[in-house]
Amino acid sequence: MITTSDLTKVYRSRGREVTALDGVDLHVRPGEVYGVIGRSGAGKSTLIRCLNLLERPTSGTVTVDGQDLTALAGRRAHRAGRPLREARTRIGMIFQHFNLLSSRTVRGNVELPLEILGLTRRERARKAMELLDLVGLADKARAYPAQLSGGQKQRVGIARALAGDPKVLLSDEATSALDPETTRSVLKLLRDLNQELGLTVLLITHEMDVVKAVCDSAALMESGRIVESGVVSELLATPGSRLAHELFPVGGAPASADRTVVDITFHGDTADRPVISQLSRGHGVDVSILGAAMDTVGGRQVGRMRIELPGPVEDNAAPLAFLREQGLTVELPEPTATTTPPAGLPAAAELTGEGA
Ligand SMILES: Nc1ncnc2c1ncn2[C@@H]1O[C@H](COP(=O)(O)OP(=O)(O)OP(=O)(O)O)[C@@H](O)[C@H]1O
Ligand SMILES: [Mg+2]
Repeated sequence: MITTSDLTKVYRSRGREVTALDGVDLHVRPGEVYGVIGRSGAGKSTLIRCLNLLERPTSGTVTVDGQDLTALAGRRAHRAGRPLREARTRIGMIFQHFNLLSSRTVRGNVELPLEILGLTRRERARKAMELLDLVGLADKARAYPAQLSGGQKQRVGIARALAGDPKVLLSDEATSALDPETTRSVLKLLRDLNQELGLTVLLITHEMDVVKAVCDSAALMESGRIVESGVVSELLATPGSRLAHELFPVGGAPASADRTVVDITFHGDTADRPVISQLSRGHGVDVSILGAAMDTVGGRQVGRMRIELPGPVEDNAAPLAFLREQGLTVELPEPTATTTPPAGLPAAAELTGEGA
């Protein structure tokens, strides 16, 4: 539904160049909710603005619903021709700060894109009320944005974004200004719209909980590149996945000579079995749990756990084999600089005061 190939964006200002996108190949399938995460400055907003050509890519192509938008865009940066404007109506967008017009009522805000589309007054009113009904705000049609809560404002933003019957909805941190409870209800609305209207949703977020709650697939951006992407449930079962670590961070001290630290990922039916107690009883080992993160992803229980077994790795072959036989993903985290600081540097534990 959304494909970019080798997309780059270089900003030039006052003789300086910033490469905000550096060869991004994105592939979002029809009907999925796709999350893009990454640190501040990674290029997430630039990517989303390039998808509807609000920002003109320096090179590469953007295809939405089979249409090459980069080909429609023409040469001039700030002049969108008619074909591009039409294509854009099929791409809805919502924003962190809602971007509503304070001088217009809720209905007036939703009618704005309908005016641009050339609907008559009557058609506009009918369509706007239909959309407000869809987002559960029909009773606020005459209210002004200042009279609404943040969650309600975002619902208006969503209704407005759906005015052109888009196939794709882009969301740039749409829940970042909302409290956790409201975030959940807005995410549920997005999920419902995704399922009822078959709407493809691409959302940018820095909140891992958002990805866990609604995303089918996710990508991790870093310095203008997508460094990892895939179906969330599959990533969780992929050894060494950075996204899995970001989604389910497990703390705890790394291994040393006389103990073995193991990261295990539970997914599918393994999440329901008492694997740890079976390990402990069956192999007569004392298992310490150093850290754990469990959650529901796509309606299924998944999670990661970091455990410690006494003795070095060589002595734990049988317990490790048992864990793998249970269908768990088993990883031995690399000892970090905390255990083996390079010569001449103090151990990280000394610097942070940990373990004192
Ligand atoms: N209009 C612009 N002119 C020059 N540089 C820009 C412009 N917009 C973004 N950048 C730069 O491009 C890089 C990516 O910015 P972008 O806004 O896409 O990051 P982001 O991942 O959305 O960050 P955040 O999580 O803080 O919103 C940054 O280094 C930023 O300073
Ligand atoms: Mg941003």
